Amino acid sequence: MNETIKLQHNHRSIRSYKADPVSDEMLNAIIEAGHRAPSSMNAQEISVVVVRDAERKTKIAELAGGQAWIAQAPVFIAIVADYNKTDIGVRKAGQTQVIHESMEGLIVAGIDAGLVLANMMVAAHSLGLGIVPIGGLRRSPQAIVDLLGLPQLTFPLVGLCIGHIEKDAPLKPRMDVNTFRHDERYDASHYQEAIDNYDATIMEYWKQLGRTDGLSWSQNLGNNLKQVYYPQVKPVAAMQGLLNDK
Ligand SMILES: Cc1cc2nc3c(=O)[nH]c(=O)nc-3n(C[C@H](O)[C@H](O)[C@H](O)COP(=O)(O)O)c2cc1C
Repeated sequence: MNETIKLQHNHRSIRSYKADPVSDEMLNAIIEAGHRAPSSMNAQEISVVVVRDAERKTKIAELAGGQAWIAQAPVFIAIVADYNKTDIGVRKAGQTQVIHESMEGLIVAGIDAGLVLANMMVAAHSLGLGIVPIGGLRRSPQAIVDLLGLPQLTFPLVGLCIGHIEKDAPLKPRMDVNTFRHDERYDASHYQEAIDNYDATIMEYWKQLGRTDGLSWSQNLGNNLKQVYYPQVKPVAAMQGLLNDK
């Protein structure tokens, strides 16, 4: 197996970082990997805001619901849907941008942000750095908009902590690959059994880590997905001019 695939198979999220800074050379290489990601229609409607200021990171850690690793990691990158950038191009062409008011626009920005995130993650892993993506960036989106100075037609989608690893984490088991891979046609006939098995696997994983507070996959999702866990996303996105009603 080649080194790139080995890195990807070895992915784990890291939530414990050393204070050592990430060099500019490493950071630039990671950003460039994100910048080279493809985008739908070559719209390049994603921007990143690099945050290294300790006070600002501490604030983001609080806003994300008390995620200490955001303050601890030397670098935090906010990945932003940037329909402000595309709007300038559309206006230059004498047209009026509408895509940012549509479901399609939000889906596309989510996909393209994910590609930027994945490229930066692999680049950071390849440099021996630890990472953890941060969806908690959407917990208090108005405060993040203010803190990062995000203009109309932009929205913070996801963050990424990067730093030198203090405490490594074990690989987190995944559900059986046959719940992920479907050949030719979708088939969910084995989902129930696979989920039962995975719930047991995850409980064993927590036990091995000495975590008595660990929940099964089903219980954890039950707690989280029974509600819109970041309810401020819709109203703040709308205030930023991003709708999904077309
Ligand atoms: C888009 C996205 C958002 C995430 N948000 C958070 C977060 O806010 N805080 C956190 O600690 N982990 C976050 N994670 C990490 C997941 O919890 C983690 O990927 C998952 O539990 C699997 O563990 P692993 O990455 O170690 O394999 C996020 C992951 C993704 C892909």
